[in-house]
Amino acid sequence: SNSLRVLLVGYGNVGKALRKMVRERAPSLGLNVRIEGIVTRRGIMLGDSEEFRKTKDGTPIDALNEVSPDLVIDVSSANYETGEPSFSLYMEALSRGIAVITANKAPLALKYAEIVAQAKKHGAFLGFQATVMSGTPSINLLRLLRGSTILKIRGILNGTTNYILTRMDQGLEYFQALREAQEKGYAEANPEHDVNGFDAAAKLTILTNFAMGRNISIRDVDFSGIANVTLSRIEEAKRRSRKLKLVAVSEGKTSKVSLTEVSPEDPLYHVDGVINTLDIHSDIQEVVITGPGAGPQNAAFGVFSDIVLMSNGLI
Ligand code: HSE
Repeated sequence: SNSLRVLLVGYGNVGKALRKMVRERAPSLGLNVRIEGIVTRRGIMLGDSEEFRKTKDGTPIDALNEVSPDLVIDVSSANYETGEPSFSLYMEALSRGIAVITANKAPLALKYAEIVAQAKKHGAFLGFQATVMSGTPSINLLRLLRGSTILKIRGILNGTTNYILTRMDQGLEYFQALREAQEKGYAEANPEHDVNGFDAAAKLTILTNFAMGRNISIRDVDFSGIANVTLSRIEEAKRRSRKLKLVAVSEGKTSKVSLTEVSPEDPLYHVDGVINTLDIHSDIQEVVITGPGAGPQNAAFGVFSDIVLMSNGLI
C-alpha cells in the first residue's frame, strides 16, 4: 500500500514507545507508516524510519514544510498557558488537509471548537483518543455510540491520582505514592496538574465537548484535586465501607472534578491503581468502560489505534 508519511512532534517516553509500536505492529496490519521527521524543542531530525539525523533548529511549522507529511502526530507535553506551539501547528496542518492525531490535551482543552471546525472545513482527519484514558477506548468508544444522546458522563480520568489514592489506602504516605507514580511514567511533566485536578478537568472538557456537543474550555470546569487528602481521611472512609476517588462528572451544563466518597455499589468503587473508568449514560443505555489510563505504552496505543482506524477509513 501507499506509505503514510508522519511528522512526529515530541520525542519523550510516549514518542519512543510509539515509534517502536509502529515499527513492530504496523506492517502486520498492512500499514506502511513512515516516521519521516521528528521535531522537538531541540530541533528537527529528518531521515527514514530507522535513521534520524539532526538538521537544524526550527519551529514545528518549518518541519511541516521540510517533511510534507500526510499525518502530524503530537506527543509533546501540554502547555496550558497557550496550547502553543501545538495549536498553531494543528491549524496550519489541517488547513493543508494534513491529518492530525494528538495525545496532547492542552490545545483541545483550550480551543476545542476552533480545532474541530478547522478539521471539518478542510476535510482533514483529527484523532485524539490518546488525550483521554490513553489506550482505553473513550473518545473512540463514543464514536461507536453516535446516534444516541449522551446525557451524562462520569468517571475516573486521572491515573496518577487514582494510583496515589489506592497506594495510600494500602498505607503509603502521599509523597511516597506520588513518587512511585512518577517513576512508573504515569504523571504529567508537571505533576501538579495531576494532583490539583487540572489534568482530569482537561480530559472532562474534551469528553464533554465531543460527547455532549458542547463548546466548553477547561476554564468552565469546576475542579479541585487530592492535595488535602490524608491517611486518616482515607481510613475514616474505609471504616464506613467507602473509598475516596477523584471523580469527574458532566451533566446538563455542569462539569466538575472533585474528591468524592463512593460506595461499593458504585462502578467507580472497584477501580484501583492506574486504572481509569468512564460511565456513559445515554438516552438508550448505560455503558461503562474500564482500563489503564496512563503510561507510555498505553498512551502510544491510543495514538496507534487512531492511526489504524484512520487508515482503514473507520472514523
Ligand atoms: N498524567 C496522566 C494521568 C497521564 O495520570 O492520567 C495520562 O493522560
